[in-house]
Amino acid sequence: MTNEPTKLWGGRFSRNTDAMMDDFHSSIRFDSRMYRQDILGSIAHAGMLGKTGIIPAEDAILIGKTLREILSDIEEGKVAFTVSAEDIHMNVETILIDRIGDVGKRLHTGRSRNDQVALDIRLYLRDEITRLDRLLHELIRVLLETAEANLNTIMPGYTHLQRAQPITLAHHLMAYVQMFGRDRERLADCRKRLNVMPLGSGALAGTTYPLDRMMVAQELDFDAITENSLDGVSDRDFVLELAADLSIEMVHLSRFSEEIILWSSAEFAFIELDDAYSTGSSIMPQKKNPDAAELVRGKSGRVFGDLMGLLTVMKGLPLAYNKDMQEDKEAIFDAVDTVCGCLPIFSRMVATMRVKPKTMRKAAAGGFTNATDIADYLVKKGMPFRESHEVIGHMVAHCIGAGCAIEELSLDELKTFSPLIEEDVYGAISLETCVEGRLLPGGPARGAVEAAIRSAQAKLAQ
Ligand code: ARG
Repeated sequence: MTNEPTKLWGGRFSRNTDAMMDDFHSSIRFDSRMYRQDILGSIAHAGMLGKTGIIPAEDAILIGKTLREILSDIEEGKVAFTVSAEDIHMNVETILIDRIGDVGKRLHTGRSRNDQVALDIRLYLRDEITRLDRLLHELIRVLLETAEANLNTIMPGYTHLQRAQPITLAHHLMAYVQMFGRDRERLADCRKRLNVMPLGSGALAGTTYPLDRMMVAQELDFDAITENSLDGVSDRDFVLELAADLSIEMVHLSRFSEEIILWSSAEFAFIELDDAYSTGSSIMPQKKNPDAAELVRGKSGRVFGDLMGLLTVMKGLPLAYNKDMQEDKEAIFDAVDTVCGCLPIFSRMVATMRVKPKTMRKAAAGGFTNATDIADYLVKKGMPFRESHEVIGHMVAHCIGAGCAIEELSLDELKTFSPLIEEDVYGAISLETCVEGRLLPGGPARGAVEAAIRSAQAKLAQ
């Protein structure tokens, strides 16, 4: 048995790579998932090579036709990739050459794997951004539906996790609609910088062939071409940016998860999760655990880790391509897969949870959430706010001692704190009045929340 080099790049080598080395540097294990993007990129490249006369037109046609056959064979599971062909790019090229011989060897004219991989990852992540956006769209739709059903569901709003002022569940959910809406905007923004076509950058210094870069860009639906060949092959900003965007999205999902976990505890009992999205304990028969929310909260750590890993891989790299950059794939694939795994479960969990308006209301009625409104009541009767804050502070302290709510004090008792207090105080501090009075745009009053819902629905319909 000879040890003749068998690689596509084997010409200058006199011996084959060690099997352990093949295994170590090969990326086919994880980049095979880009087969579609790799083939579509090659079809566009070959088509351009034929149209510009860089290779014979009939060769370009045969290459394109064979690549399409390879694509459908891969999709039908008829193709096995090999570690010895290293990565998806050379696997596809090797299969092409196996099928059409010397004609296939013309495909890589004017191209390097460095600009090829830069193209493939852009195409791949562009598709993933579309998928992520659809999943976010569905989550926002579920939240809007749940908000509309809970416009009158009063609950305590919190600061420092201490009951603060009454709001509605609709208003609370609409905060997340804002957050996930920004996540969609961030993805769309990332797509703009990603959607730039790098082929023609060559290995690092472009190429002497008269490639028509714009033709390839149009064929593959890119908005523009990269403007510097070194940057074209070594830019992974869009990978970092997507990982950062996904990290922020996971922060949002994780905060929401934390609230769902709290709310479904017996201590809060604001919601009950559906059995379909909860799990039990192997030892404690009574347990019903919010595992879906806990896993989403936990998986945020993975995505942040992916971002940190990517930043660290890139930070010390000299221009242009370095093999370190092959490490970008597993991290960004993992981040995308993780978020794509979390979003549908989260949407279903929220869509099926049972809201308990009575416990929410009871919690809002305790904890003096109307204290600000009584202070404001005195201000409206002429007292300076800083003074009314002090007066109501004393009133709250008294009620804590007496174990009652402010509205449970008699008018005479109330008057001992300020003679400005009259019978109309009771109406002024009911939970409904507290919520409905906050009708500025962005506030929790029903009309303001309805306006926010309509505005979010309009964005969703775009
Ligand atoms: N598999 C490589 C990657 O993912 C493709 C580019 C390799 N280029 C090279 N000259 N080794 O980055």
